[in-house]
Amino acid sequence: MARTKVSIPAWSSQWVFIMAAVGSAVGLGNIWKFPYIAGDNGGGAFVIVYLACIFLIGLPILIAEISLGRAGKANPVQAMRNNALNNNASKAWTGLGINGVIAGLLILSFYTVIAGLALAYFFKSLQGGFLAMDANEAQTLFNSEVASPWVLGFWHTLFMLFTLLIVARGVRAGLEKAINFMMPGLLMILLVLLGYATMTGSFGQSVSFMFRADFSQLTWNAVLVAMGHAFFTLSIGLGTMMAYGAYVGRKMSIVQASVWIVVMDTLIAIMAGLIIFSIVFANALEPGAGPGLLFQTLPIAFGQMAGGWVFGSLFFLLVVMAALSSAISLLEPAVSWLEQRGRYSRAQATALLGAFTWFIGLGTVLSFNYWESVYIFGERNVFATLDFLTSSLMLPLGGLLIAVFAAWTWQKSKRAEVLYFSNQLFQQFFDTSLRYFTPFAVLVVFAFNLALGWLWTSVILIVGIVAYLGYAWRCHQAQAG
Ligand code: PFF
Repeated sequence: MARTKVSIPAWSSQWVFIMAAVGSAVGLGNIWKFPYIAGDNGGGAFVIVYLACIFLIGLPILIAEISLGRAGKANPVQAMRNNALNNNASKAWTGLGINGVIAGLLILSFYTVIAGLALAYFFKSLQGGFLAMDANEAQTLFNSEVASPWVLGFWHTLFMLFTLLIVARGVRAGLEKAINFMMPGLLMILLVLLGYATMTGSFGQSVSFMFRADFSQLTWNAVLVAMGHAFFTLSIGLGTMMAYGAYVGRKMSIVQASVWIVVMDTLIAIMAGLIIFSIVFANALEPGAGPGLLFQTLPIAFGQMAGGWVFGSLFFLLVVMAALSSAISLLEPAVSWLEQRGRYSRAQATALLGAFTWFIGLGTVLSFNYWESVYIFGERNVFATLDFLTSSLMLPLGGLLIAVFAAWTWQKSKRAEVLYFSNQLFQQFFDTSLRYFTPFAVLVVFAFNLALGWLWTSVILIVGIVAYLGYAWRCHQAQAG
């Protein structure tokens, strides 16, 4: 296996690894996006489809991605090169790592803008800025926060600096320390808020909104949204989990860790949904308020409720911490790649990549004001284009390639060195999902996201499936011979 120029660090324990991976998975996707897409898509039936995607597609890819990181023992680019060399496969597999490194930086560039807004709201709440707020004032507050590129840019910069400070210190002194502090804090705040939600008088309504399944409301589009979100929320498909997997020691169980990650991520998303909808219903607000749910709807509720100052501040602190533990994981694949090439120290690599990503983020900052209607791709401004490019194309593409490599290219004996199942049935489920189910599901999402109509969708699907089967057949023949 080709060596990297610097030695690879390791997590100090299995538990720390699980917390770091949960920290990566739990973020804006759980607290900001999941509740509003569940709200937009009618609640219960959507949640069931989402859960199915998480366990049937997400979990196997997560296990495969972490295992590929551990087997390749390097940053995603080098790890995929090592894995390809070890399995007599084409070096083109390195592209999977490169796709991830680039997607991570692009996501980070807009992630810090939204997270920066949450940071601004946290300080607003601390200063009593939501007191007695009505719908108009909430709208005005949001507009004034995003209208000025200077204000939004300031929070984007501040949040980016926090991220860089942690990543620059390295795996043990930076990532681990931050995670050890943030994850317990995050869980505590979540429990306090959940306790509060049960006392609003609307908790029951919130539970039935999230779990009462009315399949007549479910659309195909909702299924696609659920599948796409499963990738985003579990941080799979872009090498983050591969980078984290490289720091996993020999004795740690990847399967067990992955089950923990998936269960915790799901529980936290559901808890966040229950909290938010309890507050929304208790204040007679609109659950399907879209992306503004967090920033335009909740402050009204915090402004009206008793103790809103405390709960509002706690809530936005929760969002900031969750986003920060995800942001560091978005930067890690790129920083570890640049650092392990040997020309730059970790601090230099972090500063360089951070500055680059911060600069790209200015495009998203401007998308909320001056460039709101400057369209890049279809009717999408810079922010919407970056979101579409990464969440709808690069992540599913990464997921597909991980599944294909793990299922077909990875030789069984090599795989067994890093990945073992104590349960036969689970292993079979894993293999079947990666071989057939996952690629098909991803291809469908992909085709729908890309295609402009049914005709193109069908063409892309058919070409994709034929190419896939051809590749699988070749690998099968090579392994048999
Ligand atoms: N999983 C994070 C969230 O739900 O907010 C976002 C994310 C982090 C996506 C890291 C991808 C990633 F590699």
